[in-house]
Formats: sequence, structure tokens, C-alpha cells
Amino acid sequence: MKNHITLGEYIIENQKDFQYSSGELSNLLSSIKLASKVVNHEVNKAGLVDILGDAGNENIQGEDQQKLDVYANDVFMQTLVNRQMVCGVASEEEDDFVIIGGKNQTHDNKYVVLMDPLDGSSNIDVNVSVGTIFSIYRRISPIGTPVVKEDFLQPGNMQVAAGYVVYGTSTMLVYTTGHGVHGFTLNPAIGTFYLSHPNMKSPKDGKIYSINEGYYSHFPQGVKDYLKYCQEEEEGRPYSARYIGSLVSDFHRNLIKGGIYIYPTSSKAPQGKLRLLYECNPMAFLAEQAGGWASDGYKRILEIKPSELHQRVPLFIGSKNMVGKAEEFMAQYPDDAKY
Ligand code: AHG
Ligand code: MN
Ligand code: MN
Repeated sequence: MKNHITLGEYIIENQKDFQYSSGELSNLLSSIKLASKVVNHEVNKAGLVDILGDAGNENIQGEDQQKLDVYANDVFMQTLVNRQMVCGVASEEEDDFVIIGGKNQTHDNKYVVLMDPLDGSSNIDVNVSVGTIFSIYRRISPIGTPVVKEDFLQPGNMQVAAGYVVYGTSTMLVYTTGHGVHGFTLNPAIGTFYLSHPNMKSPKDGKIYSINEGYYSHFPQGVKDYLKYCQEEEEGRPYSARYIGSLVSDFHRNLIKGGIYIYPTSSKAPQGKLRLLYECNPMAFLAEQAGGWASDGYKRILEIKPSELHQRVPLFIGSKNMVGKAEEFMAQYPDDAKY
């Protein structure tokens, strides 16, 4: 009989990859696995119950919070709190970082989690895939003290693990701990994730570009020039345009098929839209671990020193050669490197 490896088994088997591992990170990943199953269950019945539509609040960035955004945030928060796995959490849906146990609570736990509990939530009402993104760091403040903001404002190259869950035609959890990228598919009948995509590799080249071209007239000239290149009739071009409007789903497709996803700065969004800490950094870690690349058009995402929890940056991510090509076009306009 073929031996099917579950996510739980995989996490435990690979615990030895971590120097000085006490099993804390493995337990943390298991908590995320559990929370994602709960959210998956809720997302799947979104059309059935009165959870569609706005929650009636705006989050700190002035965006409407969908009810499932709030729900997913609560589930991840509660799971991490109940299992006492982390000392602090930062979330798209929380104004400030949360110290588990309340202000001044000291902790012996080593890790902080940053997350976008529900990404692409404007797609829920129309039955299009959404996701969860997570990023994990080892705290830099001393063990046995409360966590501080600096624990969350670490550059992406300090991440110890990152991943996403895509609630798609099937639900998948994809993660890295710096030893490649591995994908697990949920068998909904028994509620277990199975290893379906071991050691995922981003094709070096691709034929898909993903960008919200509706904002074309607001884009910087380098992006406009690159889009023209994508559309030219030459050497394997034009490429195909594919844009779901869920970063997780767009990234996942491009990771498997080869492609580039761009969310640039624009005159409407001068810093771009996507958040460095819980959208761009975890995706950049995954992209690099799969052999792809992630940049802000000029420099490596993972080397950006964050200054704010909800900071936005432009994102160019996906197949290595495609991102490299886009960077060549951006380099023609060095002034746009400042945003
Ligand atoms: P979120 O739902 O967490 O706010 O993120 C939505 C993001 C991202 O998933 C997607 O790629 C992008 O916003 C779409 O933005 P546009 O509608 O501006 O293209
Ligand atoms: Mn998002
Ligand atoms: Mn979100």
C-alpha cells in the first residue's frame, strides 16, 4: 500500500531540521494547521449562512472588514492563545500587535506570528478562492519579558517559517521552514492534510503575468513598459494575463505554472497596496525557497527593514527570470525606487 504522509507526521519528522529544537515550532505549525481547518469549514459554507457581507467595521487601514475576516482572525488568535504557543501576534485585522495574556505579560515562548487571516476577502461573496498567510519569527527581546514591537519589525530574511492556506477547489496548506516548500492537500472527508506537493519548484520562466491592469494609467512608467513587453508578439510572447484578486491564489497558480505577480506603486496607492510584514515577506520567503524571486522592483523584499506594522510595499514576485526582467525595466526609472 502506498504510504501517504500527513502534515502532522511531516512536521514531526522534520523537527530535526532545527538546531536546538524543543518542538515549539512544530507545535506552533500544528496550531496553524488546526485553525486553518476551522476556517476552511466556515469558508466552505459561506454561501449557506448569514455570514456573508460586511461586518460593519473598518480595520485600521480603512478597508471594510468582511465578516469572515473577523471570524478567521478570531479563530487564529484563539487557537494560538489557547495552545500558548506564541508570545505575540500581529494581524491585518488588529490595529497593534497583541501580547498574548495582555499588556506586560511575560513569556517563555520564543516565537511571534504575523498573519493575514483572510486574504482576498472581497472574493468571498462571489465564491472565488481566498487564503490565509502566516509568517513566524523568533523573538529578539529576551525570553521571560513581554514582547515588544521590535520583535515584529524584523526583516523578512529572519523568518523561521512562513506559509499560506488556499481555500480553493481543494484546500491546500503550503509552507517553508527554510528547507524547501512543501504543499499539503486537505481531504475534507476526514479533515487531514496529506503531502501532495513535496519540494515545490518555481519554474525559472513562465508565460503568465498577473496585475490589476485596470489601474494601468496610474502605474509607474517602468511597469507600463514591462507590460508592453509582456504583450509583444515575440519569442514566446505575448504572455497570458491571469488575475484573481487574491494574492494567495494568484501566487499559488504562478508558483506551479510559472509566472509573475505584480502589485506596483501607483498614483492612487503611492506605496503599493500589499503589506510587507504579513503579505509580502512570507510570500517572498516561499518564492525564494522554491527558486523564485521577490522584489519591490529594485531590491530584495526580504532585506527591507520594516518601520511599521502595517507598512505597504510594491511587490514583484514569482519566476526568477520574469522578476529579473521586470526589474530591468524598472531600473530605467531609478527615481521610482523611492516610494
Ligand atoms: P485583503 O483581502 O487581505 O485585504 O487583500 C487583498 C489583496 C490581495 O489579495 C489582492 O491581490 C489584492 O488585494 C487585490 O487588490 P486590487 O483589487 O487593488 O487589485
Ligand atoms: Mn491580504
Ligand atoms: Mn486580509
